[in-house]
Amino acid sequence: MSSKDNIALALGATPKVNEGVNGLQRRPNTHELVLRNLCERDLDAILYIEAGAYSHPWTRTNFLDSLNSQYPMQGLFVPCAQTGEDSLVGYFVAMKGVDEVHLLNLTVAPDYQRRGYAKHLLNLLREWAVHNELTWIWLEVRQSNTAAIALYTSYGFLKSGVRKNYYPLGIKGSQEREDALLMSYHITTCN
Ligand SMILES: CC(C)(COP(=O)(O)OP(=O)(O)OC[C@H]1O[C@@H](n2cnc3c(N)ncnc32)[C@H](O)[C@@H]1OP(=O)(O)O)[C@@H](O)C(=O)NCCC(=O)NCCS
Repeated sequence: MSSKDNIALALGATPKVNEGVNGLQRRPNTHELVLRNLCERDLDAILYIEAGAYSHPWTRTNFLDSLNSQYPMQGLFVPCAQTGEDSLVGYFVAMKGVDEVHLLNLTVAPDYQRRGYAKHLLNLLREWAVHNELTWIWLEVRQSNTAAIALYTSYGFLKSGVRKNYYPLGIKGSQEREDALLMSYHITTCN
Protein backbone atom coordinates (compact mmCIF):
# COMPACT_ATOMS: atom_id res chain seq x y z
CA MET A 1 0.00 0.00 0.00
CA SER A 2 1.53 3.34 -0.96
CA SER A 3 1.53 6.25 1.42
CA LYS A 4 -0.51 8.14 -1.18
CA ASP A 5 -3.31 5.57 -1.03
CA ASN A 6 -3.06 4.88 2.64
CA ILE A 7 -4.61 7.61 4.69
CA ALA A 8 -4.56 7.28 8.46
CA LEU A 9 -7.80 8.51 9.93
CA ALA A 10 -6.60 8.79 13.50
CA LEU A 11 -8.87 10.95 15.58
CA GLY A 12 -8.07 14.54 14.74
CA ALA A 13 -6.43 13.72 11.42
CA THR A 14 -7.93 15.01 8.16
CA PRO A 15 -9.63 12.14 6.32
CA LYS A 16 -9.66 12.04 2.54
CA VAL A 17 -11.21 10.09 -0.32
CA ASN A 18 -8.82 9.99 -3.23
CA GLU A 19 -7.18 13.32 -3.83
CA GLY A 20 -8.45 16.50 -2.29
CA VAL A 21 -11.64 15.27 -0.65
CA ASN A 22 -12.08 15.80 3.03
CA GLY A 23 -14.44 16.89 5.75
CA LEU A 24 -16.23 14.06 7.56
CA GLN A 25 -19.48 14.82 9.36
CA ARG A 26 -19.17 12.07 11.94
CA ARG A 27 -16.42 9.69 13.01
CA PRO A 28 -17.04 6.07 13.97
CA ASN A 29 -16.09 4.92 17.44
CA THR A 30 -12.70 3.68 16.45
CA HIS A 31 -9.18 4.59 17.34
CA GLU A 32 -7.75 4.56 13.87
CA LEU A 33 -9.02 3.87 10.37
CA VAL A 34 -7.24 3.59 7.07
CA LEU A 35 -9.04 4.48 3.86
CA ARG A 36 -7.79 3.49 0.45
CA ASN A 37 -8.86 2.43 -3.00
CA LEU A 38 -9.73 -1.24 -3.21
CA CYS A 39 -7.68 -3.39 -5.53
CA GLU A 40 -7.48 -6.98 -6.70
CA ARG A 41 -5.48 -8.16 -3.71
CA ASP A 42 -8.41 -7.17 -1.46
CA LEU A 43 -10.84 -9.51 -3.21
CA ASP A 44 -10.48 -12.47 -0.83
CA ALA A 45 -11.28 -10.24 2.16
CA ILE A 46 -14.16 -8.60 0.30
CA LEU A 47 -15.67 -11.92 -0.75
CA TYR A 48 -15.40 -13.23 2.81
CA ILE A 49 -17.38 -10.21 4.06
CA GLU A 50 -19.88 -10.50 1.19
CA ALA A 51 -20.58 -14.14 2.08
CA GLY A 52 -21.32 -13.19 5.69
CA ALA A 53 -23.34 -10.07 4.92
CA TYR A 54 -25.66 -11.06 2.04
CA SER A 55 -28.01 -13.84 1.06
CA HIS A 56 -26.98 -13.15 -2.56
CA PRO A 57 -23.42 -11.79 -2.44
CA TRP A 58 -21.58 -10.22 -5.33
CA THR A 59 -19.19 -12.58 -7.10
CA ARG A 60 -15.47 -12.13 -7.74
CA THR A 61 -16.40 -11.32 -11.34
CA ASN A 62 -18.74 -8.51 -10.20
CA PHE A 63 -15.88 -6.90 -8.29
CA LEU A 64 -13.34 -7.49 -11.05
CA ASP A 65 -15.71 -5.87 -13.55
CA SER A 66 -16.05 -2.86 -11.23
CA LEU A 67 -12.27 -2.62 -10.83
CA ASN A 68 -11.76 -2.89 -14.58
CA SER A 69 -14.39 -0.20 -15.14
CA GLN A 70 -12.48 2.01 -12.70
CA TYR A 71 -15.54 2.60 -10.57
CA PRO A 72 -14.88 4.41 -7.29
CA MET A 73 -14.20 1.60 -4.78
CA GLN A 74 -13.04 2.52 -1.33
CA GLY A 75 -12.34 0.34 1.70
CA LEU A 76 -12.05 1.18 5.36
CA PHE A 77 -9.44 -0.81 7.24
CA VAL A 78 -8.43 -1.13 10.87
CA PRO A 79 -4.84 -2.03 11.75
CA CYS A 80 -4.49 -5.50 13.25
CA ALA A 81 -1.88 -5.57 16.03
CA GLN A 82 -1.49 -9.36 15.85
CA THR A 83 -0.79 -9.73 12.14
CA GLY A 84 0.51 -6.25 11.43
CA GLU A 85 -1.85 -6.10 8.48
CA ASP A 86 -4.89 -3.91 8.02
CA SER A 87 -8.25 -5.62 8.36
CA LEU A 88 -11.09 -4.64 6.01
CA VAL A 89 -14.23 -3.55 7.89
CA GLY A 90 -16.34 -2.02 5.13
CA TYR A 91 -16.41 -0.70 1.59
CA PHE A 92 -18.44 0.92 -1.13
CA VAL A 93 -18.58 0.56 -4.90
CA ALA A 94 -20.18 3.33 -6.92
CA MET A 95 -20.62 4.37 -10.53
CA LYS A 96 -20.34 7.92 -11.79
CA GLY A 97 -23.15 9.22 -13.98
CA VAL A 98 -23.77 12.58 -15.60
CA ASP A 99 -25.13 14.41 -12.59
CA GLU A 100 -25.32 11.57 -10.11
CA VAL A 101 -23.39 8.77 -8.50
CA HIS A 102 -25.04 5.38 -8.30
CA LEU A 103 -24.18 3.46 -5.14
CA LEU A 104 -23.82 -0.15 -6.25
CA ASN A 105 -22.55 -1.79 -3.08
CA LEU A 106 -22.19 -0.65 0.54
CA THR A 107 -21.19 -3.28 3.04
CA VAL A 108 -19.89 -3.40 6.60
CA ALA A 109 -18.49 -6.67 7.97
CA PRO A 110 -21.02 -8.27 10.36
CA ASP A 111 -18.65 -8.03 13.36
CA TYR A 112 -18.28 -4.27 12.82
CA GLN A 113 -21.88 -3.26 12.23
CA ARG A 114 -23.74 -0.63 14.30
CA ARG A 115 -20.57 1.34 14.99
CA GLY A 116 -21.16 4.12 12.48
CA TYR A 117 -18.98 2.70 9.69
CA ALA A 118 -21.70 2.74 7.02
CA LYS A 119 -22.58 6.32 7.83
CA HIS A 120 -18.88 7.13 7.65
CA LEU A 121 -18.65 5.48 4.21
CA LEU A 122 -21.69 7.45 3.03
CA ASN A 123 -20.01 10.65 4.19
CA LEU A 124 -16.93 9.71 2.18
CA LEU A 125 -19.02 8.93 -0.90
CA ARG A 126 -20.85 12.24 -0.55
CA GLU A 127 -17.54 14.11 -0.32
CA TRP A 128 -16.31 12.28 -3.41
CA ALA A 129 -19.53 13.25 -5.24
CA VAL A 130 -19.18 16.90 -4.24
CA HIS A 131 -15.58 16.84 -5.42
CA ASN A 132 -16.80 15.51 -8.78
CA GLU A 133 -19.59 18.11 -9.00
CA LEU A 134 -22.36 15.53 -8.78
CA THR A 135 -25.60 16.46 -7.06
CA TRP A 136 -27.42 13.18 -6.52
CA ILE A 137 -26.73 9.78 -4.99
CA TRP A 138 -29.02 7.00 -6.23
CA LEU A 139 -29.29 3.42 -5.06
CA GLU A 140 -31.48 0.33 -5.06
CA VAL A 141 -32.12 -1.65 -1.91
CA ARG A 142 -34.09 -4.84 -1.29
CA GLN A 143 -37.44 -3.93 0.18
CA SER A 144 -36.84 -6.55 2.92
CA ASN A 145 -33.50 -4.99 3.92
CA THR A 146 -34.76 -3.07 6.92
CA ALA A 147 -31.26 -2.32 8.26
CA ALA A 148 -30.11 -0.68 5.03
CA ILE A 149 -33.41 1.19 4.56
CA ALA A 150 -33.12 2.50 8.13
CA LEU A 151 -29.54 3.59 7.42
CA TYR A 152 -30.40 5.41 4.20
CA THR A 153 -33.55 7.00 5.64
CA SER A 154 -31.66 8.24 8.71
CA TYR A 155 -29.01 9.65 6.38
CA GLY A 156 -31.58 11.64 4.38
CA PHE A 157 -32.33 9.42 1.39
CA LEU A 158 -35.90 9.53 0.11
CA LYS A 159 -37.85 6.73 -1.51
CA SER A 160 -38.10 7.59 -5.21
CA GLY A 161 -39.71 4.50 -6.69
CA VAL A 162 -39.91 0.73 -6.86
CA ARG A 163 -38.18 -1.59 -9.31
CA LYS A 164 -40.38 -4.67 -9.58
CA ASN A 165 -38.72 -8.09 -9.33
CA TYR A 166 -35.28 -6.52 -9.30
CA TYR A 167 -33.40 -8.94 -7.04
CA PRO A 168 -33.16 -12.74 -6.99
CA LEU A 169 -34.77 -14.41 -3.99
CA GLY A 170 -34.36 -17.87 -2.53
CA ILE A 171 -31.75 -20.41 -3.52
CA LYS A 172 -29.63 -20.10 -6.62
CA GLY A 173 -31.58 -20.94 -9.73
CA SER A 174 -34.92 -20.09 -8.13
CA GLN A 175 -37.30 -17.99 -10.20
CA GLU A 176 -38.41 -15.99 -7.14
CA ARG A 177 -37.69 -12.28 -7.26
CA GLU A 178 -37.90 -9.38 -4.83
CA ASP A 179 -38.71 -5.72 -5.48
CA ALA A 180 -36.11 -3.00 -4.95
CA LEU A 181 -36.75 0.41 -3.46
CA LEU A 182 -35.14 3.15 -5.48
CA MET A 183 -33.78 5.79 -3.12
CA SER A 184 -32.19 9.16 -3.83
CA TYR A 185 -30.23 11.74 -1.90
CA HIS A 186 -29.93 15.29 -3.14
CA ILE A 187 -26.51 16.41 -2.03
CA THR A 188 -27.02 20.13 -2.12
CA THR A 189 -30.21 20.04 -0.05
CA CYS A 190 -29.42 17.14 2.31
CA ASN A 191 -26.70 18.50 4.55
C1 LIG B 1 -26.76 -1.85 6.16
C2 LIG B 1 -25.34 -1.77 6.72
C3 LIG B 1 -24.39 -1.29 5.61
C4 LIG B 1 -25.30 -0.79 7.89
O1 LIG B 1 -23.95 -0.69 8.33
P1 LIG B 1 -23.58 -0.22 9.81
O2 LIG B 1 -22.14 0.14 9.82
O3 LIG B 1 -24.04 -1.22 10.78
O4 LIG B 1 -24.48 1.09 9.95
P2 LIG B 1 -24.19 2.32 10.94
O5 LIG B 1 -23.60 1.79 12.20
O6 LIG B 1 -23.44 3.37 10.21
O7 LIG B 1 -25.70 2.79 11.23
C5 LIG B 1 -26.11 4.14 11.02
C6 LIG B 1 -27.61 4.19 11.29
O8 LIG B 1 -28.33 3.36 10.36
C7 LIG B 1 -29.43 2.73 11.03
N1 LIG B 1 -29.18 1.28 11.10
C8 LIG B 1 -28.06 0.62 10.71
N2 LIG B 1 -28.21 -0.71 10.90
C9 LIG B 1 -29.45 -0.89 11.43
C10 LIG B 1 -30.18 -2.02 11.85
N3 LIG B 1 -29.67 -3.27 11.78
N4 LIG B 1 -31.44 -1.86 12.34
C11 LIG B 1 -31.97 -0.63 12.43
N5 LIG B 1 -31.32 0.52 12.06
C12 LIG B 1 -30.07 0.37 11.56
C13 LIG B 1 -29.47 3.31 12.42
O9 LIG B 1 -30.25 4.50 12.36
C14 LIG B 1 -28.01 3.64 12.65
O10 LIG B 1 -27.79 4.63 13.63
P3 LIG B 1 -27.68 4.16 15.19
O11 LIG B 1 -26.72 3.02 15.24
O12 LIG B 1 -27.17 5.40 15.86
O13 LIG B 1 -29.05 3.76 15.60
C15 LIG B 1 -24.89 -3.16 7.27
O14 LIG B 1 -25.92 -3.67 8.10
C16 LIG B 1 -24.57 -4.15 6.19
O15 LIG B 1 -23.45 -4.18 5.67
N6 LIG B 1 -25.55 -5.01 5.86
C17 LIG B 1 -25.35 -6.06 4.87
C18 LIG B 1 -25.09 -5.47 3.49
C19 LIG B 1 -26.21 -4.56 3.04
O16 LIG B 1 -27.39 -4.85 3.20
N7 LIG B 1 -25.81 -3.43 2.41
C20 LIG B 1 -26.74 -2.48 1.87
C21 LIG B 1 -27.12 -2.90 0.51
S1 LIG B 1 -28.23 -1.73 -0.24
